[in-house]
Order: sequence, then structure tokens, then C-alpha cells
Amino acid sequence: MNDESSCCNNDSDEDVSRNDVRDFYSNAATTAQESLCCPTQYDLTDLSHIPKEVTEISYGCGSPVGRAGLREGEVMVDLGSGGGIDCFIAAKHVGKTGRVFGIDMTEEMLGVARKNAERVAENLGYNNIEFKQGFLETIPIDDTSVDLVTSNCVINLSTDKNAVFKEIHRILKPNGRFLIADIISEKEVPEDMQNNKELWGECVSGALTLNEFLDYAGNNTFKGLRVQKDYLWKEVGGIKFYSYTIEGFKHVPDENASCCKSLIATYAGPFESVTLQSTVFPMNVPVEVAEDTAQMMSSHSYAGQFIITDPETEKPAESNSESSCCG
Ligand SMILES: C[S@@+](CC[C@H](N)C(=O)[O-])C[C@H]1O[C@@H](n2cnc3c(N)ncnc32)[C@H](O)[C@@H]1O
Repeated sequence: MNDESSCCNNDSDEDVSRNDVRDFYSNAATTAQESLCCPTQYDLTDLSHIPKEVTEISYGCGSPVGRAGLREGEVMVDLGSGGGIDCFIAAKHVGKTGRVFGIDMTEEMLGVARKNAERVAENLGYNNIEFKQGFLETIPIDDTSVDLVTSNCVINLSTDKNAVFKEIHRILKPNGRFLIADIISEKEVPEDMQNNKELWGECVSGALTLNEFLDYAGNNTFKGLRVQKDYLWKEVGGIKFYSYTIEGFKHVPDENASCCKSLIATYAGPFESVTLQSTVFPMNVPVEVAEDTAQMMSSHSYAGQFIITDPETEKPAESNSESSCCG
């Protein structure tokens, strides 16, 4: 295990590669790694159907599935599924009619997950899970087929983070969402530390700053980004590393929604005001917005935060969704 004094000694002159990460996790699948165990809090009722072999090699830093508000029948993909803990939790939430896919590149992790999937299916009375071998950067899942993408302490391990966000966007359905728990560094990780394979494997050296993370998501056109800072995980080389959970959604404008019709959006709180797309929405103050913006505000991530009304009828805009000034 690395401590502060040893953190920055390079163990190689070469850059970290996916093979290094895979070697690290082949070993972590069979021998539980103390240095990887974050103080993750799972709801115990979510774990009752999951074998101990899985929980013993749980290396996440949050509990994205528990927070995702999964609905019966939804399709979820967990990136870097490891021993399968988050997929097994999700399998219960989405029920018999839902579907859960776990993606991981490491044979040994997939071995543990697939073996235990049989026991989980027996415990639940149905089988709705599939573990696929693949990379985060080229996810083996069809375009626009997924309601929710989760990932628990994995994006930091990728050496091509932009490709990961691009792929998440590709596989999500319109208005689908991601919920990602990951390690975030308080400042950019210096290059010498990034070349340390052990620290990279331990989810330290590949960590992004919050701004970098939000830029990758924003550049891949994710909207409604919501950030929750969970806890300080550790300090290495004088840099603090935190666990965060970040949500975003793939907003696809409704073709029937118009940008020339105006609706009224009233922010319902709890904050005094919020700023969206450079417009300030003070609490309880009606603000005029274009119909396509109003449609985004009514969708999953903002649902309940804005009351949308049509000034022509003074009724909630949902009851008038057919109308369009340009039609
Ligand atoms: C820190 S563990 C987290 C495992 C799991 N999410 C959990 O909460 O227990 C990281 C996992 O991601 C996988 N992984 C890392 N980089 C990957 C990549 N580029 N493509 C696919 N899997 C990857 C590793 O094999 C490992 O199983």
C-alpha cells in the first residue's frame, strides 16, 4: 500500500496502460485489497440477496444504484462492474421486466460476477443480469438502448476519459441518465504521480478534478449535471482525494417543441435561486422560457423543481403539449 512518503516514486518510465489496470484487478478479484476499500455505505436491505464472495471484493467509492431511483422495467448498464455488487442491487430494483448489464475487461472479475449471478437469480426468483467482457471506451452495448448508466470508482482508471463519456452518450436512450460515483482530486494530479501504476490502480493517480469531470460531461453534451460531494477518501502526495457522486442526462429536444413559443417556468426551491444556461431563476418568480427549454426542465433531472405553465391558457404546459407556434 502506498503512503504519502512513497507516493511519487515512479515504478516505470512508461505511461500507465489498460493492461496495467487489468493486471491489478485480476489480482484484486481473487485477493481482497485493503488499499482499495473505501468506506462505502450500502443499504443493508439492498445486499440481502448477494453472496459474501461479492461483497468482499467490493471496490466502489459510493452507492450510485441506491441513489438512482431505478424504476421497474428499466435497463441499466454498470461500467467496470467488478464482482457485480451494483448489478446485483440493480437487478432487484428493476424487477423481472428490467435488464442489467455489467461491463468489465478483467476475466477474473467476470468469473466471480458470473458465478454469483446464478445464486442471485435463485435468490430473486428471476434472471435479468448479463455480464459482458468489454472496455469502457468501446462499450459492447447497442446505441440508444439504456435508461441508466452507472459506474462505481472506475472512470478514474480509464486512460481515455473522453471516449468513455462519448460511449455513455451513445448507449443512453433520449433523456437517459448517468449516475457515477468516482474519486475526484482537489487539484490536477502531477505527471510523475500519474505514471505510478500502483497508485493508478488504487484509483488515485487517474482521478480528475471536478472541473475536468464536468468538462468531459459537458463537452459530450450532457445536461442537468448535479454534483454531490460525499467524503474525503485520502490525502496522497499533499493532494486531497474525495468521493463524489455526479449525475447528468442526455437531453434530446422534442421535435415538436418549439424555440419560438414562450412558456413560464417558476423555480420551486429549495435554494433562493438557480442559474441555468445563464438565466437566473429566483425562487417563486415566473420567468419566460422557450418551449424547448421548458421541455428540458420538465424532464427527469429537473422534474419537480420547476412549475411550467402556458401563459395563453394559464394551465400547466403538459396539458397543451400539442401546441406549437411554428406548426
Ligand atoms: C475499482 S474496481 C470497481 C469494481 C466495482 N464497480 C465495485 O464497485 O466493486 C474497477 C473495475 O473496473 C474494471 N476496469 C477498469 N478499467 C476498465 C476499462 N477501461 N474497461 C473495462 N473495465 C475496466 C476493472 O477490471 C475492475 O473490475
